[in-house]
Amino acid sequence: MAVDPASLIVKHYPDPILRRKAETITVTPEVAGVARRMIELMHEHEGIGLAGPQVGLSWRIFVSYVPESEKRSAEGELPSAEKGASVYINPVLSAPGGELVKFEEGCLSLPEITGAVLRPNEITITAFGLDGQKFTRRGSGLLARCWQHEMDHLDGVLILDRMTQIHRMKNRSAVRELEAEWAASHPKPANRR
Ligand code: CO
Repeated sequence: MAVDPASLIVKHYPDPILRRKAETITVTPEVAGVARRMIELMHEHEGIGLAGPQVGLSWRIFVSYVPESEKRSAEGELPSAEKGASVYINPVLSAPGGELVKFEEGCLSLPEITGAVLRPNEITITAFGLDGQKFTRRGSGLLARCWQHEMDHLDGVLILDRMTQIHRMKNRSAVRELEAEWAASHPKPANRR
């Protein structure tokens, strides 16, 4: 059954789709339409990344846009930003390097929740683009962090699993609230439009 990109919305915890391991996909026009919609949603919600499961699709795809700033550059050997939005299909991470850095992360599927997550500062990503071509990039800083965060989504992992116990405690009532909201609306993703 074809996916209507216009129907996609950002799913919130504890939607079970966020816990499922996503599946490898083939690049098709349908995937391209979904990717464009994901970029739109990412911008609408002012995020720097969005993964398939977050829009209700158990697909190994994510989009990102980590803009340049005073501290971040899209240039050079180890960019920490991007010139524009990118699409990563069936991504694989390798060669983590640099320091382990602790940084406060948020997530569009966990509104009002943030917590410090420890991640290596550098990583290499290999993925397919919408043109079906395989590419490899190495990134650092926020870009490398974003890739790792989005990659986690494809494996059903959330920042709740990665943050320290203290941060989990700090977010406990926000988590409860999300659980209550979800229980109240109880969406059935498979039938929802
Ligand atoms: Co997220």
